[in-house]
Amino acid sequence: MKLYETLAESIAQSIQSGILRRGDKLPSVRQTSVSRKVSPSTVFQAYYLLEARGIISARERSGYYVAAQTSDIPLIPEPIISDDVEVAQVDVSELVFDVLESIKEKNVIPLGSAFPSPLLFPLDKLGRSMASVARTMNPWASVDNLSPGDADLRRQIALRYMIDDISVSQDEIVITNGALEALNLCLMATTRPGDTVLIESPTFYAALQSIERLGLKAVEVPSHPKEGVDLVAMARAIEMHHPKVCWLMTNFQNPLGSLLSDEKKKSLVELITQYKLPLIEDDVYGELYFGKNRPAPAKSFDREGWVMHCASFSKCLAPGYRVGWVASGCFSKSIARLKLTTTISASVPAQLAIASYLQKGGYDKHLRNLRHSLLVNQIKFIEAVNLYFPAGTRLTTPQGGYFLWIKLPDGVSSLQVHKEALSNGISIAPGAIFTSLKNYDNYIRLNYGHIWNSHIESAINVLGGIVKNLSQQHAI
Ligand SMILES: Cc1ncc(COP(=O)(O)O)c(C=O)c1O
Repeated sequence: MKLYETLAESIAQSIQSGILRRGDKLPSVRQTSVSRKVSPSTVFQAYYLLEARGIISARERSGYYVAAQTSDIPLIPEPIISDDVEVAQVDVSELVFDVLESIKEKNVIPLGSAFPSPLLFPLDKLGRSMASVARTMNPWASVDNLSPGDADLRRQIALRYMIDDISVSQDEIVITNGALEALNLCLMATTRPGDTVLIESPTFYAALQSIERLGLKAVEVPSHPKEGVDLVAMARAIEMHHPKVCWLMTNFQNPLGSLLSDEKKKSLVELITQYKLPLIEDDVYGELYFGKNRPAPAKSFDREGWVMHCASFSKCLAPGYRVGWVASGCFSKSIARLKLTTTISASVPAQLAIASYLQKGGYDKHLRNLRHSLLVNQIKFIEAVNLYFPAGTRLTTPQGGYFLWIKLPDGVSSLQVHKEALSNGISIAPGAIFTSLKNYDNYIRLNYGHIWNSHIESAINVLGGIVKNLSQQHAI
C-alpha cells in the first residue's frame, strides 16, 4: 500500500469508528502533514482518494468535511464465489440485444449506456485534424495503410507504451476497428469452434456474445469487485477445463470497476506463462485512472509474448472513430492476416486524424480533464446512491473508469428495475447481461460518465424509489 493509501485508510477507520462524525471538518492539509509526519502532497492525495470514495467532500474555501452520508459509507458487494467453475454454452445475445436496443432511445437518461458523454471529448480539435488530413492525404495512403495500419499511428501508440516503460515495438501493433475488433481477432487467432475460453464473472457482455458467435464455450472465474479475478480459482479452472485462451480486464473492469494490483498482474502473467495459455488483455479503460499514474497492463510483465494487449481511443479520445489496436506479441502476424481477410483495414482518414492529433500534443491535457470530470461525477453519483437507494444496497468505489456496480437489496430483480426504469425514461444495465450463468440478478451497473445535472440526480432519486418499492414488495 502506498503512503497516501495508508493515510486514507486510517482516516476512513477514524470515520467508521465514529471518532470523526458526519459533517466534522477534517484537519487542514498542513496540520495533518505535521501531525502525521508526511508531505502535504501525500495528505492531499489521501484526501483526494477519500473524496473519490464519497467518504469526505471538499467545500470551497473551507476545507474537507466528513461526507453527509457516512452512516452509509459505500460497502463493496462481496464476490460470488463457487467452488466449481463449470464450462457453459453461452446464450446471452437475445437478452443483451433487448437491453441495448431499449437503452438506445435519445431521450432516455443513459445510466445503462457503455459510453461516456460525447461532450467530454475534444471533438472540435479532432474534427480539425480530420479536415486537414482529408485535404492533404496522399492518395496512396489508402493502399499503404492497409493492415497492420498507418505507420505514424502505430509509432505514436508505441511511443505511449514507451513513456509508460512498456516495451512494445510498432511492428507488433495491428490497428483495428475499435478494441472490440482487436479482441475478436485475438479470439479467432487462438481458438476453434468447441474450444473453451476462460473469462471473468461478471464480464463485459460483448465477450459473451463473441464466444457465442464463434461457437466457443466459456468457463467463468469469479472476480472480486475491488481486486479483480481470483487467481486460485483461475488456476483450478485451467487444470480442470484446459481453456485455449483467457480474456480478462485488468484495469477498471467492466462492469465491476476492479483493478488488479501490479503484484497480481505479475502473478497472472506467471500463471499463464506456466500453462502457455494466451491472455487477451482488454484494457480500454486504463487511461481513465484517478490515482497518480496509469496502472500498468499485464502486458508490461510479459517476457515471452503470451499477452495480447487490446485497447482503443473509443473511451478516452475519439468515440465513433472506431480506432483501436492490439499489441499481440507472438500472435501479431496471424492477427494482421486475420484483419486483412476480415475487414482489410481500419478507416484510413480516422487513423490519420488521430495520428495527427497525437503528434500535435494535447492528448495528456485532455486526459487529465477527462479523468477529473469522471472523478467529480463519481463522487456525485455515490453521494446520490447513498442518499436515494434503500438500506441493503451495496456499491463499488472504483479507482478509475466510469461504472458503478451496485448490489440491490435481497430479492430485488434488476430486470424488473430495468423495465420500470425504462418506463420512467431511465436506462440501467441489469446484472444478468454480464454472465452466461444465472448470477447477478440483483445487481445493476450505472454509468457515471455523464455530466452531473439535476436530471441525473432526479433519475437516481426515481431509481432509488423503484428499488425501495420492489424491496418492500419482496419483504411482504
Ligand atoms: C471492456 C470493454 N472492452 C471493449 C469495448 C469495446 O471498445 P471499442 O468501442 O473500442 O470497440 C468496450 C466498450 O464498451 C468495453 O467496455
